[in-house]
Amino acid sequence: DSRQVIGRKSFAAVAINCAAKAGEWIKTKVGGYASLNQKTSHHDLVTEVDKGSENLIRSLILTHFPDHAVLGEEGVEPGPAASAAALEEVKDAEYLWIIDPIDGTTNFVHGFPFFSVSIALAHRGEVILGVVYDPSKDELFIAEKGKGAYVHGRRTRVSGETGLKESLVATGFPADRDGALPLNMRQLEAVVPRVRNVRTAGSAALHLAYVAAGRLSAFWEIGLNSWDIAAGALLIQESGGVVTDLDGNPYHLGVRNIVASNGAVHDELLAVLRSAAE
Ligand code: IPD
Ligand code: CA
Ligand code: CA
Ligand code: CA
Repeated sequence: DSRQVIGRKSFAAVAINCAAKAGEWIKTKVGGYASLNQKTSHHDLVTEVDKGSENLIRSLILTHFPDHAVLGEEGVEPGPAASAAALEEVKDAEYLWIIDPIDGTTNFVHGFPFFSVSIALAHRGEVILGVVYDPSKDELFIAEKGKGAYVHGRRTRVSGETGLKESLVATGFPADRDGALPLNMRQLEAVVPRVRNVRTAGSAALHLAYVAAGRLSAFWEIGLNSWDIAAGALLIQESGGVVTDLDGNPYHLGVRNIVASNGAVHDELLAVLRSAAE
């Protein structure tokens, strides 16, 4: 009904405002953060800017929607078990905001301009809104369920490649590497010879946005968390692409091993990744 339309519009306005405000602030802190700490390992970093971004977004959301649930990376104990438990606790909330305050902290720390703010809103477990903002390029990607996805106000569409041979594919190396890295290496070994090339630029959310915008044919990564994926997954679905887990099951909030593509190369990529698991 019309009330819902108005409600959803204001959800999007709040998400855009949060991402833009946080992103602009993060950009001023490149090369100027004060404290750097390790979470689970030297691959897994956090700064006061990650926490400040999350606090800014969280408080803006709660000002507008005080009874909504909020799940943010820096509000959860490090490591996959705690992340899964934290999601389990809130995933059935009527409205749940899922925040990655800086996706690509390693890039932020090194001044490599490829990081993003990722904000998603789920309604009873289904993602209905996703925003990924890249402050370095001032690019804001937004999708609303059933209404398409946009960047710079223009509709995004996945790319047209029909085979891996002509595909540009991205991946990432999981921050928490216990047991995951050997599989990751075998996957790379299987994928690299079959595709046009592989990129690994260090922000899962932005890689997903690039699949939505047709700049990448596909992306996969194992061991991600809900906040890395939720917004980007909706961007891709609303741009005509496909998002599944490693076994080809449809995306849901609990999926950690993600395969996302333009649709046309999905089964071929799944098969190559499957061959690496054996
Ligand atoms: C990380 C980034 C990176 C991916 C890691 C993630 P963070 O998120 O998305 O690209 O490879 O698996 O943990 O920690 O920078 O928000
Ligand atoms: Ca992190
Ligand atoms: Ca992340
Ligand atoms: Ca993060």
